[in-house]
Amino acid sequence: MKFFIDSADIKEIREVHSLGLIDGVTTNPSLVAKTGRGFNEVVSEICKLVAGPISLETVSLDAEGMVREGEELIRYGKNVVVKVPLTFEGRIKTNVTLCFSPVQALLAAKAGAAYISPFVGRLDDISQSGMEVVEQIVKIYANYHFSTEVLVASIRNPIHVLTAALMGAHVATMPYAVIKQLTQHPLTDVGIERFLKDWEKVPNKFK
Ligand code: E4P
Repeated sequence: MKFFIDSADIKEIREVHSLGLIDGVTTNPSLVAKTGRGFNEVVSEICKLVAGPISLETVSLDAEGMVREGEELIRYGKNVVVKVPLTFEGRIKTNVTLCFSPVQALLAAKAGAAYISPFVGRLDDISQSGMEVVEQIVKIYANYHFSTEVLVASIRNPIHVLTAALMGAHVATMPYAVIKQLTQHPLTDVGIERFLKDWEKVPNKFK
């Protein structure tokens, strides 16, 4: 399973990238706005830093505008995947975003999307099971051998990541805080504390 960081914050991205924890990056207009920096500088830095797929989102609502923006966005690097809220086919790799139902995902796959992004957290927020939608998409794609990868987005916690992995989703994109949470377990902390205490009792340690 691939891990992407869902962020436009270069500091966060640099940290998890240097730890070898991520295979790609997803951004959206809100994440870029949160940085308070210019789109051009933010995106150029990310595309240079991370080799893996970088999803950059179009903001046009019509197909023509999306294609035009997509063609602009791919100039930032060969690693760019154009994120669109609707689907279009072509030479540009697309990440179809804002997916909330299995039939939307079916349409995206039929249109040749490279990725489909079901937003699990936002479904949970309105009392619908986001992970149930992911389960159905994974099943539909397997039934018809679609090559579109299921990129689980709007992840809020490590349980979302675990469930996505158990379901066989290809990618989980998550905020910096969730990547950090994945490394944590109280028994790990207790274990480290105990080892360090015992280590104090050991004579003749490293020179
Ligand atoms: C990723 O591609 C999406 O932009 C992101 O996961 C949305 O997450 P949110 O629902 O927490 O804004």
